[in-house]
Amino acid sequence: MRGTAVAALALGLAVAVVLAGAVACAPTTTTTTPPTTTTTPTVPLSGVFGIISDWSESTHAVPVTFAAEEATCAGCHDGRGFALGVSDPKSFVASEPFGPYVVATDCRACHTGRGADLLESGTVTTPTEPTPIKAGAGAVCIGCHRERSKPTSSAGPVPGAPHPSIQAAVYLAYGGIRQPGVTYGSTVKHTQVTDMCVGCHMSDNSKGVPTHTFLPPKNPKAICGECHEGITTYDLAVAADYDGNGKVQGIQDEVTGLLSKLSTATAKAMGANTLTQAKGNIVFKSGTTTITAPVPDKVYQAAYNWALITNDKSLGVHNPQYTVSLLQESYIVLTGAPIPNSKPFPGSKLSTGTAGGTTRTPSATGTTGTP
Ligand code: HEC
Ligand code: HEC
Ligand code: HEC
Ligand code: HEC
Ligand code: HEC
Repeated sequence: MRGTAVAALALGLAVAVVLAGAVACAPTTTTTTPPTTTTTPTVPLSGVFGIISDWSESTHAVPVTFAAEEATCAGCHDGRGFALGVSDPKSFVASEPFGPYVVATDCRACHTGRGADLLESGTVTTPTEPTPIKAGAGAVCIGCHRERSKPTSSAGPVPGAPHPSIQAAVYLAYGGIRQPGVTYGSTVKHTQVTDMCVGCHMSDNSKGVPTHTFLPPKNPKAICGECHEGITTYDLAVAADYDGNGKVQGIQDEVTGLLSKLSTATAKAMGANTLTQAKGNIVFKSGTTTITAPVPDKVYQAAYNWALITNDKSLGVHNPQYTVSLLQESYIVLTGAPIPNSKPFPGSKLSTGTAGGTTRTPSATGTTGTP
């Protein structure tokens, strides 16, 4: 593990030097007239070293080793796999001078090959969203941080959970198992942030270069303040009590409450006391015993959507309206009634439950199911 991280960092430095050269040199000119102006390098070398140390402290510097070694996974979990656009490590490890080793999401992943193409084009496609997404620099993030396939049917023996990478599908309000005829709504302004993911997760650091820790800044004002004046916490106070606990709280507390109510009700519907995810699957347990009974559709949609929002990890910040509505509707389909005392998100139109939460089947969106 340590060895691979060091190898990744060494290669990172190599790419960094190339990149630094690229940004530090003024473009050569082929005309005979001498240029009248000089170009100031956009990123000073000190900035590049800042980038390297930021990156090396980020989760991107830590490979998920077993996934990086596996066919169908290396296309996102090995920096070479992503840059080359191939998902089977067999196709690239053979040509490596130092023998087989895995690399993390290193500089080359985003700045060479497919990563560089995505940065340049700003457009990315995903397996279930039918229209190409115009994401600016965020396209490179969505190249990995998106759904892997559409929801599986609950008919299989082990019901699948969404991959931890599903942020794009929540942010852009197209993920999850949805009901026909329901207006979930979306906080559209959030989806219009310039460069999407990059706009909030890589806001410029003090050296004037994009922050490569990939984490939102500690001070929310820097990325939310333009629209939410006076904001001091990402857990921004919302308009109503969405989880029905009798208090109007911040979005992240409301969503935490919603996740808790939905998982309790979902587990109960299976005669279980816990709902969890393990190895990409939904798992119900009663005590320490895993329940193996078939999972009915209405239970599966609730479990899947609970896992989707859990894995998004922003607790509603990415898309407050879609997150709240998806969880509330999942509860209605599961139990036949809304969460007691909860208020719907303004502008969303959920079902009433009287249509028969017990009989409706989930409808997944999208057409393909490639990993
Ligand atoms: C579409 C790109 C993509 C593919 C394909 C993919 N993953 Fe991932 N995976 C990700 C991303 C992105 C994350 C990190 C998400 C996060 O932490 O928010 C992740 C996270 C994980 C994690 C959790 C790691 C942790 O530290 O919590 C595991 C385990 C994992 N993937 C295994 C696999 C395996 C096994 C495969 C192949 C069967 C696979 N992945 C295929 C993109 C992908
Ligand atoms: C997960 C993707 C990702 C990784 C990994 C990554 N970068 Fe970046 N980098 C970006 C994005 C996105 C930008 C902003 C590009 C833009 O706004 O057009 C950027 C910008 C830069 C810039 C500024 C370029 C300019 O023209 O202003 C430099 C230099 C840079 N990165 C170097 C590195 C180095 C060195 C590493 C490895 C230590 C690295 N990056 C790793 C995504 C990444
Ligand atoms: C080549 C695939 C890939 C690309 C491109 C990529 N990521 Fe990641 N990202 C991952 C993987 C894999 C992980 C999880 C690593 C681990 O758990 O060890 C991750 C983790 C993260 C995490 C930490 C999640 C956590 O729970 O700690 C953040 C934040 C993140 N990525 C944001 C971004 C942003 C922003 C971009 C675009 C600039 C981006 N990523 C581009 C694969 C990618
Ligand atoms: C409007 C700003 C904004 C946009 C746009 C945005 N994010 Fe986030 N993201 C956040 C905030 C804020 C958090 C939660 C930070 C916290 O609670 O500390 C977060 C959390 C996350 C996390 C979990 C990080 C962790 O610490 O576990 C990941 C991964 C992530 N976002 C990826 C993405 C990706 C990928 C995109 C683009 C599809 C994206 N984000 C778009 C603001 C944004
Ligand atoms: C480009 C402008 C913009 C940015 C940037 C932005 N928001 Fe918003 N946000 C909006 C708009 C517009 C709404 C919908 C407001 C409404 O309906 O009154 C909204 C709604 C919300 C809501 C739901 C409020 C409710 O009453 O339920 C929360 C919570 C929220 N934003 C938090 C954030 C956080 C945290 C950030 C920074 C990570 C952020 N926003 C960044 C424009 C923005």
